[in-house]
Amino acid sequence: MGQMGLSSFSFSMVSYIILVLGLIIGPLLCNGGKTSTFVRKVHITQGDQVGKAVIVSWVTVNEPGSSEVLYWSEISKHKKVAKGKVVTYTYFNYTSGYIHHCTIRNLKFNTKYYYVVGIGHTERMFWFFTPPEVGPDVPYTFGLIGDLGQTFDSNKTLTHYEMNPQKGQAVLFVGDLSYADNYPNHDNNRWDSWARFVERSVAYQPWIWTAGNHELDFAPEIGETKPFKPFSKRYHVPYKASGSTAPFWYSIKRASAYIIVLSSYSAYGKYTPQNAWIEEEFPKVNRSETPWLIVLMHSPWYNSYNYHYMEGETMRVMYEPLFVKYKVDMVFAGHVHAYERSERVSNVAYNIINGECMPVKDQSAPVYITIGDGGNIEGLANNMSEPQPAYSAYREASFGHAILDIKNRTHAYYSWHRNDDGYAVEADSLWFFNRQWYPKDESH
Ligand SMILES: *[C@@H]1O[C@H](CO)[C@@H](O)[C@H](O)[C@H]1NC(C)=O
Ligand SMILES: *[C@@H]1O[C@H](CO)[C@@H](O)[C@H](O)[C@H]1NC(C)=O
Ligand SMILES: *[C@@H]1O[C@H](CO)[C@@H](O)[C@H](O)[C@H]1NC(C)=O
Ligand SMILES: *[C@@H]1O[C@H](CO)[C@@H](O)[C@H](O)[C@H]1NC(C)=O
Ligand SMILES: *[C@@H]1O[C@H](CO)[C@@H](O)[C@H](O)[C@H]1NC(C)=O
Ligand SMILES: [Fe+2]
Repeated sequence: MGQMGLSSFSFSMVSYIILVLGLIIGPLLCNGGKTSTFVRKVHITQGDQVGKAVIVSWVTVNEPGSSEVLYWSEISKHKKVAKGKVVTYTYFNYTSGYIHHCTIRNLKFNTKYYYVVGIGHTERMFWFFTPPEVGPDVPYTFGLIGDLGQTFDSNKTLTHYEMNPQKGQAVLFVGDLSYADNYPNHDNNRWDSWARFVERSVAYQPWIWTAGNHELDFAPEIGETKPFKPFSKRYHVPYKASGSTAPFWYSIKRASAYIIVLSSYSAYGKYTPQNAWIEEEFPKVNRSETPWLIVLMHSPWYNSYNYHYMEGETMRVMYEPLFVKYKVDMVFAGHVHAYERSERVSNVAYNIINGECMPVKDQSAPVYITIGDGGNIEGLANNMSEPQPAYSAYREASFGHAILDIKNRTHAYYSWHRNDDGYAVEADSLWFFNRQWYPKDESH
């Protein structure tokens, strides 16, 4: 796929110029204070397993400044301070700014909090809402975005998500964030510009991160051989809370959902850390507490486009029996730059000699949704395998996002929104019936 270079540059350049101007003009207007601690690229994610903690991350440019976050709830207004840590990294000839990560703990559920990062004239204030306490009938609305990048299409996707009348409260992000690796020497300034671009959403609501192939930044030709280096320095996740030993696979509970994040680009075969973790993990899911079992990964298993075809196949062979056994409700993936929704199908009967190697309808199986249509920089995937396989319920090569609106333990309303339509238009939609509590066939 060719690159759409032009469209990608302008808006990030404009915001960059505005920020640079801000840095130059700032001190003149602000009593000669230092500009070097200017805080930017603020983002938050869930900081524990149940939603009572938030990880706040941000970058300061020339000096570390403070790693503390000042925060207070809308109700009490009593200000508290949480202490964080600062890290830096180098990548080829790029040196990062000071990357701060601060976990705010012991928050109250279902509460609006304000928070401030930075010191003196560089202070910036944001807010977020904690989720309601985990429970089986707690409604919650997730946004779904994948393969976002930083093009005009990316901006359109984010704007459509923000303007959707169904308001997402947190984003399940299925991997491929900045596409910095598509620039010369994986230009890590692109990690910075991406973080500035999405700040308008992710500073105010948590995005739940999944690692994609564009997070690998594995480039031995320029001496960079540590996979996920920039991603893991910049995007912290609460992996230890779920007993994981690496930040690329982990789980969280949020409202009535149990969300398992897997890594398509970490080892997952027998005896690997990820496999050991997932085998322990599925039995822990209590559907009386969290009825909705959702899995996020980057590389899709059921994909009928002629891009990345069968790349998810080895992981499917490895883990699909678990997904069926534990009745996963839905699996969201990205990677393929288009949209696709599957029927409930499984392909777990094959044992090398019986010839039973076709996907079959299976009401214990998840619906697989590919939502890699965020904008990227490589263009849309529009070449589909023909005829459309029976497992594929709906597919379309358009940019967009989706909303998963969980109503209670039995029903969740799902809709996909293409960027070419008005904000409220649903291009594809479905009532999901929970596999544990109401395992009816939703396809008719
Ligand atoms: C990105 O979207 C925002 C919000 O819709 C808009 O204000 C801004 O002009 C867009 N930026 C570009 C470069 O198109
Ligand atoms: C890094 O190297 C590239 C290619 O040689 C060069 O264009 C760029 O200016 C360098 N950046 C820094 C910060 O030295
Ligand atoms: C599952 O969750 C329910 C509801 O919170 C609770 O009553 C029950 O004890 C839990 N079961 C297990 C095995 O932990
Ligand atoms: C679509 O993909 C198929 C299979 O890879 C390939 O043979 C075909 O040439 C592609 N068509 C176009 C228009 O690129
Ligand atoms: C669950 O939500 C669905 C859709 O809103 C509704 O029809 C159903 O009555 C609800 N179930 C209960 C027990 O409230
Ligand atoms: Fe990808």
